[in-house]
Amino acid sequence: MINSVRMHWLDQGEGEPIVFIHGFPFSSRMWEQQLASLPAGWRGIAPDLRGFGASGHGPAGPYTMDIFADDIAGLLDYLGIPGAVICGLSMGGYVAFALHRRYPQKVRGLVLCNTRPGADTEDARRNRLVQAARARQEGVAPVVESMLPRLFSDLSKRKHPEQVNLTREIMESTSPETMARALEGMAQRPSSEAQLRDIAVSTLIIHGDDDAIIPRGEAQMMARNLRGARLEILEDCGHLSNLEYPGEFNRHLHEFLANLPPYFGELKLA
Ligand code: MLT
Repeated sequence: MINSVRMHWLDQGEGEPIVFIHGFPFSSRMWEQQLASLPAGWRGIAPDLRGFGASGHGPAGPYTMDIFADDIAGLLDYLGIPGAVICGLSMGGYVAFALHRRYPQKVRGLVLCNTRPGADTEDARRNRLVQAARARQEGVAPVVESMLPRLFSDLSKRKHPEQVNLTREIMESTSPETMARALEGMAQRPSSEAQLRDIAVSTLIIHGDDDAIIPRGEAQMMARNLRGARLEILEDCGHLSNLEYPGEFNRHLHEFLANLPPYFGELKLA
């Protein structure tokens, strides 16, 4: 139990920890291709956020990004890990910002994929609350049908129908109540734009040039405002860069991990 909720996570490899945080409405399964090919000396941990995948539900109320961040911090404490590289995709990136705000000492490097630091606009917030109400009344279908066609680039849809199917399967197995509570949580999240100045750890930003959910301009803006961040924009790639281009994604990730400051090198030798 982490923060009184049953938490499920995937844990692969040994060495320096990297935590992979999934987006909405997915699960740890979206990171299988990253966990399977981590470089030697790295341990990948991919939790199912509360309510998602095989994790249990929390008490009533919105699943805020702060609650998810507290769960990640609780998991790290449970595993006896003082700090880790944090890799978050989309909503997972919002959680990474919350984790950095609440537990900066636990964040030793950041990989921000297909995400944005800003809060929702009023329109986006209203739309999320409408979607949350629909999920409760009609089940997951309206969220799946409105999101799925926009998640992959046209090329990825043609080249990797199996990834589209896997994504559909993960989305459809999410409970409507979890969808609703996470939508309410995302609607409440504060802007992390001012926080970008305070992020001093090495950061890699990965985005798709064809991301229909979060425009690539967001990634470019983050790269301008994050000291020394490295930006990789993948061509013909949509919102799920790690599923659409796992080879390229992993190459950038591994290069980033190999070039992290000496702290990591020292620990690896220990
Ligand atoms: C995600 O992929 O996590 C969501 O699209 C994020 C969002 O809806 O803002």
